[in-house]
Amino acid sequence: MAPVVKVAIVGASGETGQSIVNGLLGASETKFEVKALTRPESLDKPINAELKGRGVDVVPVNFSGPLDKLTEVLSGIDVVISAIFFGSLGDEIPLANAAKAAGVKRFVQSAFMVVVPPRGVVDFREKKDENFNYIQKMRLPYTYIDVGWWYQITLPRLPSGRLDYLLPTGQPEQPIGLDGNVPSALADIRDVGRYVAKIIVDPRTLNKKVHVFNEVHTRNQVYDLLESVSGERLNRQYISEAEVKERLEKARHALDQNQTDGSALAMLTVSQLFFSWGIRGDNTPENAAYLGYMSGKDLYPDLTYTTLKDYMIEALGGKGKGVYQRR
Ligand SMILES: NC(=O)c1ccc[n+]([C@@H]2O[C@H](COP(=O)([O-])OP(=O)(O)OC[C@H]3O[C@@H](n4cnc5c(N)ncnc54)[C@H](OP(=O)(O)O)[C@@H]3O)[C@@H](O)[C@H]2O)c1
Repeated sequence: MAPVVKVAIVGASGETGQSIVNGLLGASETKFEVKALTRPESLDKPINAELKGRGVDVVPVNFSGPLDKLTEVLSGIDVVISAIFFGSLGDEIPLANAAKAAGVKRFVQSAFMVVVPPRGVVDFREKKDENFNYIQKMRLPYTYIDVGWWYQITLPRLPSGRLDYLLPTGQPEQPIGLDGNVPSALADIRDVGRYVAKIIVDPRTLNKKVHVFNEVHTRNQVYDLLESVSGERLNRQYISEAEVKERLEKARHALDQNQTDGSALAMLTVSQLFFSWGIRGDNTPENAAYLGYMSGKDLYPDLTYTTLKDYMIEALGGKGKGVYQRR
């Protein structure tokens, strides 16, 4: 019988983390034992009670506490996965130190984002790259995983409002970059965990970067498909490179004036990401290969996934689930 693989996950209560827990507990080829490391103030979150009910060992962890304590929590763990909130990436440094001290065999940091060059395009990618360097500097075994832009934040609003129930509230409609023909790799967040369950036990992916996605579509293709599946006509609002750059400069200027301006930071982050996938066209399998990633399509050609069309049909049927709705 194959040995049980022991996995510790930080951020198991979050969007990516929940998908990973589902992927591990639902895996048929490998048996995983899962430990969720949660902040002490999150211990009573309903999601943690749900995780316990599914056999996950939920452990409160203070990342600014003593290294020995964190090392003890990771003792006997084979794989550490961080799916932490992007604003808390600093916590991955003590986590990596403890993983090294505990002899963890593979460390997966909270990348899980679209393909973006390491520096000069999106500020928080640079923070992830700093952590990646730290991990490599200490020679901690790793796998770095990036994933397609989630379907769950991809669909435009319909004039009828039929999709409003699952789209992020308060988020302004994303315009279409250039002429709408920039391709971008997409993934259903629910499939991410199934990819991760394969990757973390695969010797081919040790000390490698891996890119996983479901399908590649331009914005025009997403709009065309949604029009044909819903029977509704969509308003298409295009935006030029110069206009996006202007938004970026405005947000950067506001942040220079006041570094605690949360809305300027949100505008900068959203605009930088959009500039990358919607204008520059960074988020493609070809660019991932150029940047040195292995492709999930080559590694796991038989792995099934939800198509964008099926996701749209599910969403239009009222059975979709949005992200960040528990907050
Ligand atoms: N590809 C895409 O389209 C896409 C989209 C969104 C995000 N991402 C990436 O996915 C990764 C994980 O993001 P996510 O959105 O899945 O995570 P999330 O749901 O925002 O948060 C994950 C967990 O982080 C922990 N956490 C630690 N400090 C926190 C803080 N100050 N505020 C809130 N939560 C905090 C919480 O767990 P506890 O409360 O249990 O401690 C939380 O449940 C990120 O690296 C992000 O860049 C990718």
